[in-house]
Amino acid sequence: MECLDFEGFSEVAREHAMHPRNYGPMKACDGHARITGPCGDTMEFWLTTQDGKVIEVMFTTDGCGSSRACGSMTTCLAEGRDIAEVLDLQPKEVLAALGACPPECEHCARLAVTVLRAACDDYFRHLPKDGTCMPDGQHRQDGRLKDNPETDKY
Ligand code: FES
Repeated sequence: MECLDFEGFSEVAREHAMHPRNYGPMKACDGHARITGPCGDTMEFWLTTQDGKVIEVMFTTDGCGSSRACGSMTTCLAEGRDIAEVLDLQPKEVLAALGACPPECEHCARLAVTVLRAACDDYFRHLPKDGTCMPDGQHRQDGRLKDNPETDKY
């Protein structure tokens, strides 16, 4: 869905909706998930990690301004944090960082956080069995090609 009306958006939320940060796709990643919400919009997140921290995180959405704003702010809040902290990120933190936004943002923030967590789960699922990490700068999969049917539903 597309909406150009940003009524009810704070300045910060409007700015993220119009100019989303970290908009993907990402070519090579350590974790990836794509989920379609009950609204019919799909969000996709990719992340790379180093020493247990999320180094880079990107997203895409086919939803409108509120989903762009929530996806964008979710990436900003996740970047540089320990993966364990990222798993604990709550939709209300995304909404608080955006400031005022319309009620539908609650759903978008929930979807964004759900997809981000699924990308973290994907990362943990694919850790090498011997506990070793990928050498710096190398990531395990091509984010453009990888689908994850387990996280494709919301
Ligand atoms: Fe669909 Fe927000 S209304 S993601």
